[in-house]
Amino acid sequence: MSNDALTIINLSRSYPEGGQAREVIHGAAFRLGKGECVALLGRSGSGKSTLLNLIAGVDRPDSGKIMIDDTEITALVEPELTRFRRRQIGFVYQFFNLIPTLTVAENIALPLELNNDPRGEVINRTREILNAIDLAQRADSFPDQLSGGEQQRIAIARALVHRPPLILADEPTGNLDQETGDQVLKQMLALARHGGSSLLLVTHSLAVARCADRVLTLHQGQLTDSGTELAW
Ligand SMILES: Nc1ncnc2c1ncn2[C@@H]1O[C@H](COP(=O)(O)OP(=O)(O)OP(=O)(O)O)[C@@H](O)[C@H]1O
Ligand SMILES: [Mg+2]
Repeated sequence: MSNDALTIINLSRSYPEGGQAREVIHGAAFRLGKGECVALLGRSGSGKSTLLNLIAGVDRPDSGKIMIDDTEITALVEPELTRFRRRQIGFVYQFFNLIPTLTVAENIALPLELNNDPRGEVINRTREILNAIDLAQRADSFPDQLSGGEQQRIAIARALVHRPPLILADEPTGNLDQETGDQVLKQMLALARHGGSSLLLVTHSLAVARCADRVLTLHQGQLTDSGTELAW
C-alpha cells in the first residue's frame, strides 16, 4: 500500500487554440498524503478544473502519470476506470451538477445506487449525511427549491456519501456570499477529516485555505507548494 492518496508525476495537458497547442498543465508534480487536506489556489484560467478532471479520469493527460493509492489511473481503460472512480473518488463540481428531476435525497443517494449498495445501507447513509449537513428536513425537496448554499451542501453530501478515500472539490461558485461559502467549505473539511478522507480543494478563499494542512498554487501549468504558512 502506498503512503500517498495521490501522486502526480510530470503531468501535461494542452488544448488546441488558434491552430496551435496551448499547454494548460505543464509538467505538474504533486503528492497528497493519506488523510491530508490540501487547498489549491490559482488564478481563473490557470487550469485548476482541468487538473481535477485529469485526476478524476474524466479527461486524459498528453503525458505523465497519475496514481491514486496504488492504482495508476492513467493506465486504466473503461469500464474499469468508471468503476474505480465511483468507489474511490468523490467529486464536488464547480457548478453543483445536481440533477433537477431527482429529490435532494435521491441526488445524494446516487453514488451509492451506482455502486449497487444494499438498499438498507443506501437509506441509512443518505439519512446520516443529511443530518450531518443539517438538511434532513429538505430530503424530499428538489434542487431548484433550495438556496445556493443549500445546493452546495447537497453537492458536498453527494461527493462524500460513499466515503471515498479521495475527495476532489472544485469550489462551487453559486451566488454565495463569502461567509456562507466559507462556512460550508469548512464544514466539508471537517467531514473529510472525520471520515479520514484525503481532500484536494480548489478555493479562492484565504480563510478556507488557512484551514487546510497545506496550500498548493497552480501557476503557468506547474504546481508549487506554499507549505503550511500563507504569505499573505
Ligand atoms: N475543453 C477545452 N478545450 C479548450 N480549452 C480548454 C478546455 N478546457 C479548458 N480549456 C482552457 O484551459 C484553461 C484552463 O481552464 P480551467 O477551466 O482549468 O481553469 P480554472 O483554473 O479552473 O479557472 P476558474 O478559476 O475560472 O474556474 C482555460 O484557458 C480554458 O480556456
Ligand atoms: Mg475552474
